[in-house]
Amino acid sequence: MAEATPSTGSIFGLSSLVDNPVFAGGLGIASLGAAAAFARKGALVAVGLARRRLLVKVEIGKQDPAYPWILGWLSQPRENPGFIASRLTRIHDLAITTATSPRGPGAHGPTSTHFALQPGYGRHIVKFGNSYIAVTREKHSTANMNTGEPHEIVQLTTLWAHRHIFEDLLKEAHRLAAEANEGKTIVYSARGMEWSPLGNARRKRPLGSVILDEGVGEAIVADVQDFLATQQWYVDRGIPYRRGYLLFGPPGSGKTSFIQALAGELDFSVAMINLSERGMTDDKLAFLLTKLPQRSILLLEDVDAAFVNRRQRDADGYSGATVTFSGLLNALDGLSAGEERIAFLTTNHIDRLDPALIRPGRVDMMLRIGEATRYQAAQMWDRFYGDVDEDHSARERFLQRMEELGLFGAFPDGTPSHRQTSTAAIQGLFQFHKTDMESAIEQVQGLIPRKFEPEESMVEGSGKTP
Ligand SMILES: Nc1ncnc2c1ncn2[C@@H]1O[C@H](COP(=O)(O)OP(=O)(O)OP(=O)(O)O)[C@@H](O)[C@H]1O
Ligand SMILES: [Mg+2]
Repeated sequence: MAEATPSTGSIFGLSSLVDNPVFAGGLGIASLGAAAAFARKGALVAVGLARRRLLVKVEIGKQDPAYPWILGWLSQPRENPGFIASRLTRIHDLAITTATSPRGPGAHGPTSTHFALQPGYGRHIVKFGNSYIAVTREKHSTANMNTGEPHEIVQLTTLWAHRHIFEDLLKEAHRLAAEANEGKTIVYSARGMEWSPLGNARRKRPLGSVILDEGVGEAIVADVQDFLATQQWYVDRGIPYRRGYLLFGPPGSGKTSFIQALAGELDFSVAMINLSERGMTDDKLAFLLTKLPQRSILLLEDVDAAFVNRRQRDADGYSGATVTFSGLLNALDGLSAGEERIAFLTTNHIDRLDPALIRPGRVDMMLRIGEATRYQAAQMWDRFYGDVDEDHSARERFLQRMEELGLFGAFPDGTPSHRQTSTAAIQGLFQFHKTDMESAIEQVQGLIPRKFEPEESMVEGSGKTP
């Protein structure tokens, strides 16, 4: 009995404590609180688990090609059955992207402006098929070191059971983007260390609108098409799948225009670098060539710029502010140069190039795109006035006048002439007299390059006239 006393005493003590209403109340609240906290934690874990198990997320970064497609898709108006659903799934926060670009392939003419509404930053709900998707667009505080633009992501979340819709959605977004660019040629240029589209995609220029001398354009097209059809041949022989073309000749002969039209014809885009551009260095060139946009023709303009600066790298690796000769060669055939490539190089100064450039794999085909020939002048005439000059009589008078002025490289009596003109100049003349072919014929002497004009008219033209 005596032994039992303390324990009974403690039990008694406890029960008396429990009996104490103040203590019991406190204990009750405390345990309730603990239970609530436990339940909350449990609920959080459960929600977290459920989220992980039931939801599926896709994150797309701004540098991914799919990023603009997704934004484009999101800005599409879509029909939602039912008032509530459409209220819920209509995007209410919009951001605007305005692009102004010159119309057509030339840099002249009126500009066209295009506004695109995109979902703003934040969270939106959209409907795709029978699934609801939470879209979160976020701008980060970090920035892309190459372009200085802040990082951005779009996150799409849907139910795990609906995860297959992402593939359909991306396909749909890509189809929309492709449709918007159909019939257009995208020209990429280097922005910082990255390729970015130069303005909006331009309407494709018909290949037939660039008139090179007889057979020249056809020869290039046939060669490129043959190259594109024989990839397996290169793979089987372990040869890098590349082909290079060098187009050289005087300014305004249609080199750039032809390459852009060719890209359109083949459904390629153009990735353009001007080697005489400020800030284009060996490293930058090599880097850009490793990440050419897919299905694009590389266009290196003014390659002679690399030969003016023959300086090699200094001991400390610095190669100057422009591209050097060795830098160009390394970029063209170094390890850095991607596997698949069609490259077009252009120059006005073939005499400045080094024979080392013209080596298979670097340049496989070299073509002079020269001053306007009789054939080209006739073809251009037909494109401009063909419908009004059905019997070609005016065309013959025009060509006759050109010949008399020695614009095709010789005078009618056979003496050579240096007064050749460019196809760009002929186009300019026809453009000026769009609807009046007779005045185009009258103004033929305007095609004589200024340096060959008679002394007096030079004086007249040099500032005396208002
Ligand atoms: N052969 C041609 N056929 C049709 N248009 C031409 C031709 N050559 C030039 N043009 C017109 O002249 C303008 C200038 O042509 P382009 O820029 O293609 O010349 P280029 O040879 O690249 O000159 P540069 O050597 O100065 O870069 C364009 O508007 C183009 O349409
Ligand atoms: Mg050019």
